[in-house]
Amino acid sequence: MSEHEQIIVQDLVKTFTVRNGLAKMFTINAVKGVSFSIKPGETVALIGESGSGKTTVGRMILGLLGPSSGEVKYKGQAVQSFRRDKLRSYHKAVQAVFQDPYSSLNSKMRVGEIITEPLRNFGYKGDCGLRLAELLQVVGLSSDFAARYPYQCSGGQKQRVAIARALAAEPEFIVLDEPLSSLDITVQTQIIALLNSLKSKHRIGYLLITHDLRVVKAMADQVVVMFRGDVVETAGKAEFFACPQHFHSRALMAAVPSIDGLL
Ligand SMILES: Nc1ncnc2c1ncn2[C@@H]1O[C@H](COP(=O)(O)OP(=O)(O)OP(=O)(O)O)[C@@H](O)[C@H]1O
Ligand SMILES: [Mg+2]
Repeated sequence: MSEHEQIIVQDLVKTFTVRNGLAKMFTINAVKGVSFSIKPGETVALIGESGSGKTTVGRMILGLLGPSSGEVKYKGQAVQSFRRDKLRSYHKAVQAVFQDPYSSLNSKMRVGEIITEPLRNFGYKGDCGLRLAELLQVVGLSSDFAARYPYQCSGGQKQRVAIARALAAEPEFIVLDEPLSSLDITVQTQIIALLNSLKSKHRIGYLLITHDLRVVKAMADQVVVMFRGDVVETAGKAEFFACPQHFHSRALMAAVPSIDGLL
């Protein structure tokens, strides 16, 4: 791994301790020593069965969860060592879009406030109104959406709002955790096109967490396969689809019989 990598995840481990009833404790080894890296403008798909630890890895990259051991490096420096200004600029550079726009957007705020909140948080110097209009346009929403509440938007429109909010911070990197799973296939195709165009235009890197190999095929450059907390395969997309190495990768592939026909 070189200094060209933007995000490096190194031997990342997360063990949760859960209280079972009054006294008993048990541990869950959610992530057992995961390593991979992401270059600027690259999409790395993190795939694997439910419970394999994908979201836990994403949350550790976002700094929402501290690792039990191992580290996340941003431009060669350990994120855990960041304080104040450095941490603030990391939180600006690394944004997230989650699966469920119903719960990830504040229902009491209007779309305009939701999108401009990061501008205020990160001390945006320009005109917030103009930037809002620009962001709505980028994600394909008309200006009247600014006054709506999330419940007045469809699932696809809400996911566009979530993307506009993530973009407001002018991120270098976005963790996309199942960003399309709650959307129907037509809207999925539109959002995939939007994310791919943002990537090439702004050179944004993505960690794309998904179950859906059709989405991997449409978006990824690299594929990292997790199985029960471990990385079991890392490959370029073409190589992965042509010749999946691990039995779990082949099992994931077998579950989608006609990938080519669908996207
Ligand atoms: N806060 C927590 N406390 C205890 N256990 C947790 C916590 N968060 C996740 N886990 C456990 O860690 C394991 C990995 O969970 P994670 O959410 O990372 O999986 P995932 O690969 O994202 O699954 P899915 O595809 O279903 O979203 C699971 O066994 C889960 O139950
Ligand atoms: Mg998950």
